[in-house]
Amino acid sequence: MAEVLPSAPVSEARNEELRRRGARVLPRGNSRVSSYVSPAPPYAARGDGAIVTDVDGHRVIDCNNNGTALVHGHAHPRVIQAALDAMRQGTSFGLPSEAEIAFAELLTHRFGRTMQWRFANSGSEAVMMAVRAARAHTGRDLVVRIGGAYHGTYDQVVLPREPGVPEAVQQATLSVAQDDEAAMVEAFRVHAERIAAVLVDLMPGRVRLQPLSAAFVETVRREAEAAGALVVVDEVITYRLGLAGLQAEYGLEADLTVLAKCIGGGFPVGAVGGRPEILACFDPELQQPIVWGGTFNANPVTMAAGSVAMAMYDASAIEQLNRHGDALRGALEEAGIEVTGRGSLLRLFADDFDKVWWELYGKGILVGPRSGLVALSTAMTGEDLDVVREVILSVLARTGG
Ligand SMILES: Cc1ncc(COP(=O)(O)O)c(C=O)c1O
Repeated sequence: MAEVLPSAPVSEARNEELRRRGARVLPRGNSRVSSYVSPAPPYAARGDGAIVTDVDGHRVIDCNNNGTALVHGHAHPRVIQAALDAMRQGTSFGLPSEAEIAFAELLTHRFGRTMQWRFANSGSEAVMMAVRAARAHTGRDLVVRIGGAYHGTYDQVVLPREPGVPEAVQQATLSVAQDDEAAMVEAFRVHAERIAAVLVDLMPGRVRLQPLSAAFVETVRREAEAAGALVVVDEVITYRLGLAGLQAEYGLEADLTVLAKCIGGGFPVGAVGGRPEILACFDPELQQPIVWGGTFNANPVTMAAGSVAMAMYDASAIEQLNRHGDALRGALEEAGIEVTGRGSLLRLFADDFDKVWWELYGKGILVGPRSGLVALSTAMTGEDLDVVREVILSVLARTGG
């Protein structure tokens, strides 16, 4: 068995200081619910490849990889070089740049079909853009989504009863439970003429990180096509799993595909890709185009870093990382641990996950706070993967292993 990294924090002094200081100027001392763990998370100081070091010097193997975004781990020299080269030429312009054409070409090539793209700065923004495009293209309002699935922070797609979302906005979406084919058929029977799009994540992480059934996806495709609605596939997380995302495994060609996270090489990014006649709603020469600015959309630093990161994340890199993920999941399942996911994406479960999170952290691995999400990176060595497996086994095995 590989040696486990330095365990339980020796000192918490600097983290404690930052928690106190942070809480004065930021709610709970940070800016992002997805990096929060109770009673207060540690603060990152630096990342090198597969390792994150916090401000008290604790080193952990990063299995969170910024919520799946960092497929090559931290500060990959080629990604950093590409970003630095781009930065020296100017970080953003009030003009388009060749970098966004090159990145769009790269993505189109990976999907292997005619597509156009619009770039944004996050997955949430890209979802927002896709929903707007679907509504503009169809002239309809209603969006059908999978109940419980997370698509970012856009008012229109957050979970019901989140504070601050107007009732009228909530009425513009309809939730159907994952794999409930009858409910999907019923939604179209009742609302066919109002439905602009079905928004699906093919493996919704916040539900259980289990792939949708093929029959359900086929029902979505068939009903949407018959009603003249669009199928919007949110591949913000699942794009890790294949060159053309998880949709390729279903033989599905989404009308609009939403990407973010890993395509930016660690920089802020979002993208919507789809058939040119749908993306045409952004054409500024139209009489009534969608007027969508975005000061940092397609900024050349993200485009350059993302291009290099994706060029290195080719079919064989994806296949290898997925194989490592499948092996890890297999070993955990064999030990009776509840684990879901596909390829390099896994989800762990526990009744009191915050407690488990701290135990894992103390033993040297960082997983998704709250979500239990594990996302492998190409920076992990075989030994790192051994440590990850042994630590999870030691913390979660029912047999007390
Ligand atoms: C499936 C999915 N869609 C959209 C988003 C939103 O992306 P971002 O956090 O970049 O806004 C996320 C974020 O975790 C996600 O998991």
